[in-house]
Amino acid sequence: MRRDTLSFYTMDNFVFNGKKVLLRVDINSPIDKAGMISDDTRIRSHAKTINELIDLGASVAVLAHQGRPGDADFTTLEAHSKILQKYVNAPLKYVDDLFGPCARESIKAMKQGDVILLENARFYSEENVEKVPEVQAKTFLVKYLAPLFSLYVNDAFATAHRGHPSLTGFPMVMPSAGGRLLENEVEFLSTVSSGSSKPCIFVLGGGKVPDSVQLMETLLPTGMADKVLLTGLISHLFMIAQGKRVGHATMKVMEGKGLNSLLPRAESLLKNYGERIMTPIDVATLRSGSRYETGLSGMGGDAPIYDIGEGTVKAYCDELKKAKTVMMRGPAGFIEDPRFTKGSEALLKCLVATSAKSLLGGGHLRSISEKLGVADKIGYFSTGGGAFITFLSGEKMPALEVLITSAQKFKSDR
Ligand code: 3PG
Repeated sequence: MRRDTLSFYTMDNFVFNGKKVLLRVDINSPIDKAGMISDDTRIRSHAKTINELIDLGASVAVLAHQGRPGDADFTTLEAHSKILQKYVNAPLKYVDDLFGPCARESIKAMKQGDVILLENARFYSEENVEKVPEVQAKTFLVKYLAPLFSLYVNDAFATAHRGHPSLTGFPMVMPSAGGRLLENEVEFLSTVSSGSSKPCIFVLGGGKVPDSVQLMETLLPTGMADKVLLTGLISHLFMIAQGKRVGHATMKVMEGKGLNSLLPRAESLLKNYGERIMTPIDVATLRSGSRYETGLSGMGGDAPIYDIGEGTVKAYCDELKKAKTVMMRGPAGFIEDPRFTKGSEALLKCLVATSAKSLLGGGHLRSISEKLGVADKIGYFSTGGGAFITFLSGEKMPALEVLITSAQKFKSDR
């Protein structure tokens, strides 16, 4: 075990030759309006770990998730398997089952060098519940699958902030390691979290509002974030908390997603740290089928807010110019629609023109940076969105904690 930096086992600590390995990855990918995967960064990144395991003589069953129940991007992993096959140097079989007879028979039949991709773990109710590892170790998922494998490898850094059974159950019952991607993320981000140059600005956007509120509750009191610039859905929450009239269409979206319950927490953050939280001063919406930018007084139309406006980009850009470190997570608008990528693009262009050290999380920002041709000017891309900021905020990550527990538990089993 590399005790100097990591306190869990990595792939270097095990012999994989002839072993059946259960590999948890995070290939949760953006899905466009036509139902196609619009960015394959995570798939490409995990293929490297799979290829290394195959080269080391293992057979690999890949365990992953896509979306959340009820969301538009909640779907099977069939399309992922086709893309993964392009990057994996072995024939890959997709099994539309997770731990039922079909999956178990396919796993039992695996030969050295074989790779199978199991079905979206979140199709199964147990996977959607966060509980302590001791409970997750007793789920049917773990009971049925663990006996079929010699080793469990978790490469899913991007989901390491979740306490789901596919992440925390297996390390409790079998020898387990962090995969190569997860190891690299933890090693790099550890060097950053031990001291980022100030002022440090966080730009938080995207759709995962509860996660972002929770992170702000850590980043602002600890002083890790000198300023937080809000975009996307979380900015609508804070605008409502500031008493701004976002319009009935945006209110309906917020209500539909159950986000208004977060208002008291947003109000409390504004009360205590309001001068360090910035919200949009103008927005983009739809009018007669086209992008329409308006100041806050014009927000009440029939279409919801879809992006930040030019005035906000300018105000945020002025802040980014003063920063020494910028951490950005999530797009600024509804980028699935090309009319609303402008805000995210403009922020990225501004960021790369500053001298700040930039760290970006999540697939959306990476794919926009690549399309804009500025990706090579970004300091670091994490595969994680929420996981990346959670790690940097110093909060405990259940899937990493349990790898440490596992290393103690299975010390002599390597
Ligand atoms: C992500 O994309 O951030 C991870 O896959 C985790 O997804 P989740 O927020 O739905 O748990």
